[in-house]
Amino acid sequence: MGKGVIIAMTRDEAQKAIREIMEDKVFGESGSRIVIEEFLEGPEVSVLSFTDGNVVIPMVSSMDHKRAHDNDEGLNTGGMGTVAPNPYYTKDIADECMEKIFLPTIKAMKAEGREFRGCLYFGLMITKDGPKVIEYNCRFGDPETQVVLPLLKTDLFTIMQAVSKGELDKVNIEFSDGAACCVIIASKGYPVKYQSGFEMKLPQATDDQDIYVAGAKVDGDKLLSAGGRVLGVTATAPDLATAIKKAYEHAEKVEFENGFFRKDIGAKALKALN
Ligand code: GLY
Repeated sequence: MGKGVIIAMTRDEAQKAIREIMEDKVFGESGSRIVIEEFLEGPEVSVLSFTDGNVVIPMVSSMDHKRAHDNDEGLNTGGMGTVAPNPYYTKDIADECMEKIFLPTIKAMKAEGREFRGCLYFGLMITKDGPKVIEYNCRFGDPETQVVLPLLKTDLFTIMQAVSKGELDKVNIEFSDGAACCVIIASKGYPVKYQSGFEMKLPQATDDQDIYVAGAKVDGDKLLSAGGRVLGVTATAPDLATAIKKAYEHAEKVEFENGFFRKDIGAKALKALN
């Protein structure tokens, strides 16, 4: 029951919960109105998109890994790693999303007088009944962006100018056919209690391996940890298996005594490909 959210697996359970809330008033007056949502199951896909309010151009799809520890164990986090593209996001699913979710969303926003220009993030679940929206964000995703933008071939500034001017239809946006993987190095104890201020030494970037520094600060000539999710170690490659291997090779070279990272980023995606 937690914070007032009840997950019912059967109709009987749902009816019992509704009676408890609305008739027995287990939440007092705050239970006089309830929201009933469908229970969804299936792989999750993040699709960031560019939109100028009329045109919506999805970027390459990605897969986040939200739980703190391997095998999707531990608490939910902001994201412990990503891969792109997401193998569950097939061409058919993409077409269905465009027709039933992406275009209706931007059209509805415009019709309500809330035309949106920028990056619209669709958090989707691919259920047995097709793709469903879990969440929208009016921003890029973290750590989705770390795997999506390295695969973008078109100049981002040109795209964003077109977005702001309402001229997105004039830009041909291309992504590489390759793959990317980002492994987040977080402070031990994240997402609950963690310490900051640990010195970090990062390996030199290569043509296809880089580190995005997030929860950190510069102190003189030292780089110190200063947050929960600290580093996004990212690699690109022609295929997903190589991108994952390269991201982990680079992550192993990071010197950060108080850091930890999941060892199975991309494992589910690789399994889905095979
Ligand atoms: N990684 C999830 C988010 O950016 O909301």
